[in-house]
Amino acid sequence: MKSEISPDRYRLTDGEVTLRPFVPGDKRRLAELGNNVNIFRNLRDGFPHPYTVADAERFIAMVMEHVPPHAFAIEFQGEYVGNIGIHPKGDIYRLGAEIGYFLGEPWWHKGIMPRAVRLACAYAFRELGIIRIDTGVFDYNVASQRVLEKCGFVKEGIFRKSVIKMGQICDEVRYALLKENG
Ligand SMILES: CC(C)(COP(=O)(O)OP(=O)(O)OC[C@H]1O[C@@H](n2cnc3c(N)ncnc32)[C@H](O)[C@@H]1OP(=O)(O)O)[C@@H](O)C(=O)NCCC(=O)NCCS
Repeated sequence: MKSEISPDRYRLTDGEVTLRPFVPGDKRRLAELGNNVNIFRNLRDGFPHPYTVADAERFIAMVMEHVPPHAFAIEFQGEYVGNIGIHPKGDIYRLGAEIGYFLGEPWWHKGIMPRAVRLACAYAFRELGIIRIDTGVFDYNVASQRVLEKCGFVKEGIFRKSVIKMGQICDEVRYALLKENG
């Protein structure tokens, strides 16, 4: 049975940056934010390009299945500006989760994402029963590496030539944050 998510139950805020569960009405805005090759070049190919309203609708329907939520809309000063997700793993990795995120390009370089990452990690350690959050960043994405470092993530290694993105082979830099350091 699918349960409803109460809008306030999972609202996480530091005052100016807020994470909240998705609602179906986010689809047009999500397509506007996500339909950008400068975002696509930094994400896995599972993130479509071009990014259509139908893609946004499918994504929102999928993430609304999870209670407690694993994905949030990021609001800055009350405006929806990007996405962040903490995705629990399975099998022997089930005490871990992977984090992923993007901001619409007009909101880059304002220090928003480190604040969103801190909120999301605190939530995941508190509510999802996990003890480790990790992710991989393409070697050329220095901004995202800085975001993770500012949030206390530790660089654990480099997966050499493990990624092909838009025809370019690159390294993936692996980062992790442990609950005791979060
Ligand atoms: C990566 C992203 C999330 C950063 O979020 P943000 O809120 O703009 O991050 P910040 O404002 O904290 O800026 C990031 C840091 O990177 C630095 N930075 C940005 N571009 C840089 C570059 N080319 N070289 C060196 N440092 C750079 C900034 O100076 C800042 O560091 P500082 O605070 O120490 O000065 C955002 O740019 C984005 O959504 N990009 C597209 C999607 C994406 O890359 N997602 C992550 C996939 S792993």
